[in-house]
Amino acid sequence: MEKRRYIFNNSLYNKPVLKDDKAFDVAVIGGGMAGLFAALELDEKYKVAVFVKGRIEDGSSFLAQGGMCCVLGADDSFEEHVADTLCAGAGHCNEDAVRVMVKGGPESVRKLIDYGVHFDIGDDGKLKLTREGGHGKRRILHCGGDATGREITKALGNAVMARKNIKVFWNHTCVDILTDKEGVCGAVINDGACDFVVRCANLVVATGGAGQLYRYSTTPEGNTGEGIAACKRAGCELADMEFVQFHPTAFAIHREGERVFLISEAVRGEGAILKNKNGESFMSFPGQHPQKDLAPRDIVTRAILAEMRRVGDDRVYLDTSSMTKDFFEKSFPTITAKCHENGIFPPDDLIPVHPTQHYLMGGVVTDLDAKTSVDGLFVCGEAACTGVHGANRLASNSTLECVVFAKRAAEYINRNPRSIPDKAEFGKNTHFTKCVEKPEILSDMQKIKAVMTEKVGAERTVGKLLEAKGELLRLYEKYCDVNFTNCAGYALFSGINTAMDIVDAALSRRESIGSHYITE
Ligand code: SIN
Repeated sequence: MEKRRYIFNNSLYNKPVLKDDKAFDVAVIGGGMAGLFAALELDEKYKVAVFVKGRIEDGSSFLAQGGMCCVLGADDSFEEHVADTLCAGAGHCNEDAVRVMVKGGPESVRKLIDYGVHFDIGDDGKLKLTREGGHGKRRILHCGGDATGREITKALGNAVMARKNIKVFWNHTCVDILTDKEGVCGAVINDGACDFVVRCANLVVATGGAGQLYRYSTTPEGNTGEGIAACKRAGCELADMEFVQFHPTAFAIHREGERVFLISEAVRGEGAILKNKNGESFMSFPGQHPQKDLAPRDIVTRAILAEMRRVGDDRVYLDTSSMTKDFFEKSFPTITAKCHENGIFPPDDLIPVHPTQHYLMGGVVTDLDAKTSVDGLFVCGEAACTGVHGANRLASNSTLECVVFAKRAAEYINRNPRSIPDKAEFGKNTHFTKCVEKPEILSDMQKIKAVMTEKVGAERTVGKLLEAKGELLRLYEKYCDVNFTNCAGYALFSGINTAMDIVDAALSRRESIGSHYITE
């Protein structure tokens, strides 16, 4: 079956785009940490557009509770952070990329402070460092206790809006990436009602992951792998798509269809213990990982799934009684509020949790400057596969990766200017006429979520993956020649493609490694 190059109907746009108000030196797609930081680090001589799918608060970065890793402690070292990252990544990381990320930490943190980010300060007056799973040392910075993402994205958003050379377009979605023989030449953007074309010399895609292809995810609604799928259609390679991270401790109380609230790993970092319904601390049972409750995420997730099966429960519990009420509430104000809303009062009450989709380690292959194989096209943040996370991401390395590689992308663009192309063209026209109504599109999105949740979860079998592949292929065949007329259709088609990429990658790796756990 011929792969579809575009999902917008390019027969509607058969003239080259020449308008100057739609031409930018750099177009950034995404309003999370990576996109905003990249925009700020670009030379101010550039005319920059930032297209944000919703508002800043709708993205994954805004939700990040756990903080940002950075080697700052006198007892810590870059080598120890590198070693912890490689160990969590189960031997599958790109070590050069890990070193670049770890060493880039202190400078990126200084820049964030310059942009107005207020990291939490400890009693000693220095930046406060906390601990999370898989880390041998305290090296996680937070803001507002567990409101790290909210504080960082708000500060970056304000800084971006104060820049004269940057224009932000809210509620705008990237539909397709346009290329010519020189590389990137533009993008198709939807403004909520219509598609339009922009020309650009460079495009930075920072659109996040694909958690919303699962029924239960800690990620927000827009995370359907659209940026990843658009890059693939534009000719980029994907890698490590089989590595989907399931966070061990998402809040077990949630309504159907609602984003699942996270109980940060920092809670275990401050001494909380996982217990089963019988009150047993099962991470301390013989045969469990030596780091017990603070073992890497994939290990804790599988231990919880096994324990839930063993005792016959759909959840386990976080015992936070080693902390005082005052300490818990000051350290975790967002979590406290969510628990209280649901009638749970830590540290007196246990917090019910279970594993839930949280992050995608794979994505668009990029080099140490966030460059893809397409000239002028850069990808940063969760949509990218720099190789820093390997088969399982170490806690709070994602935010660090966002800023370090966004900065490197911007620096590369600053050093290597490209000219804005005179026109953006689409190549061969496609004339799709088949229509599918929106209710059916939304219902098919639910089918993807069901397939991915039931057949492509934290524990996989070849048989279930083959069933998933068949079901996704049927959806692909149904939609490959549809004339999409709205963003729901675009999200669905990209979702089908990204889900198929995850399943294909999972089927081609028959050994278990990190988050990819597979049996026959
Ligand atoms: C958490 O707070 O547990 C999540 C942080 C992360 O995903 O690294």
